[in-house]
Amino acid sequence: MRKQPPMKPTDERGHGFATRAIHAGEHADPATGAHNTPIYQTTTYAFDSLEAKAAALEGAPGTFVYTRGGNPTTAALEAKIAALEGAEAAVAAASGMGVIMAALRSLARSGDHIIAADNVYYWANIYLNEDAPLDGIEVSRVDITDLDAVRAAFRPNTNVLYCEFLSNPAINVANIPALAALAREHGATLVVDNTFTSPYLFRPLEHGAHLSLHSATKYISGHGDALAGVISGSAELIAPILRQVEILGSCISPFNSWLLLRGVKTLDLRMERHCSNALELARFLQQQPEVSEVRYAGLESHPGHSIARDLTGGRYGGMLSFRLHTQPGDNQADRLANNLKLCAHAVSLGDVSTLVWPHRSDVYGELVRVSVGCENIQDIIADFEQAFEGLGTRRS
Ligand SMILES: Cc1ncc(COP(=O)(O)O)c(C=O)c1O
Repeated sequence: MRKQPPMKPTDERGHGFATRAIHAGEHADPATGAHNTPIYQTTTYAFDSLEAKAAALEGAPGTFVYTRGGNPTTAALEAKIAALEGAEAAVAAASGMGVIMAALRSLARSGDHIIAADNVYYWANIYLNEDAPLDGIEVSRVDITDLDAVRAAFRPNTNVLYCEFLSNPAINVANIPALAALAREHGATLVVDNTFTSPYLFRPLEHGAHLSLHSATKYISGHGDALAGVISGSAELIAPILRQVEILGSCISPFNSWLLLRGVKTLDLRMERHCSNALELARFLQQQPEVSEVRYAGLESHPGHSIARDLTGGRYGGMLSFRLHTQPGDNQADRLANNLKLCAHAVSLGDVSTLVWPHRSDVYGELVRVSVGCENIQDIIADFEQAFEGLGTRRS
């Protein structure tokens, strides 16, 4: 069953970001007048006439048949996300990987070619390296900051250019306008994972990308309590993606849609704090003798700083990573993360709590990724200070 197109945001489009985050897609419950969008915790929808059934089966706006294909709480979320990304349409799924797989399956099949950044999220990386080739899809991995390498990677059968705007965990900055121009020149679809910046800081569609996606588990939810994914673009590109969500069975639950509706209302307030805290922590880390490199797009030393500055208006999000001077086998990154008391030694990101996770890979070596939370920055810094001291490498 085809899902309904999202309820179309109307007058919210002329409003500022915070107003859209609070109001877009939402309306008082028609049955009770309840001001907040209810959790429509139902799998199915009853019809009181054959005409109503026919209209729903045809996909008339505001009608629903089965929650795997559409739900009023989810439709409100999708309309809100579309309004925030400046998109015609959006679709939500059970997780970020749910939308990544739905998007890639809708765009690339056996015989097609995907160009993907060499640094992307762990499971997207596994799909691209291991599973896509099993499905007959050719994949080229490139340094996304090297536009000549990207240009050279196009083949006649390239349909997808895939990257993260700020990459996980190396914080490489992708030049989205330049990549969009290359994709369009070669008839490919540019898919941007915008998880690290959120639509508050950056909206890829405004810079020529075709699709913008998020692990909404992260900043869009903001509170570390719901797995979700969202993807936005033209109605033409979104329709086959929601078809994949239905086929894969990766629909979001109404309760998680509601958690996201609630969380995203404060996205701008949270992102402002994430940005200022991350910049201060990045500067602190730069001064620590144990640290050999800090990767934060807000630091002038970052090679992608000026691109990020021009695209985000000078705010760089809450994600940074850093490298330690280490000796083989000294396990300093894990030990440092383990020494933290306030910040959690935990995977995931975009939470109001600070989360720290050491990463190792052949492409970028060992990095400690920090999702800088919304706590008071002096408390975060004090926690890192005691964690560095706990390594026992400082002379008194
Ligand atoms: C950049 C990025 N994209 C996608 C994902 C996958 O999202 P999810 O865990 O919601 O499936 C993650 C998860 O950490 C991520 O960091």
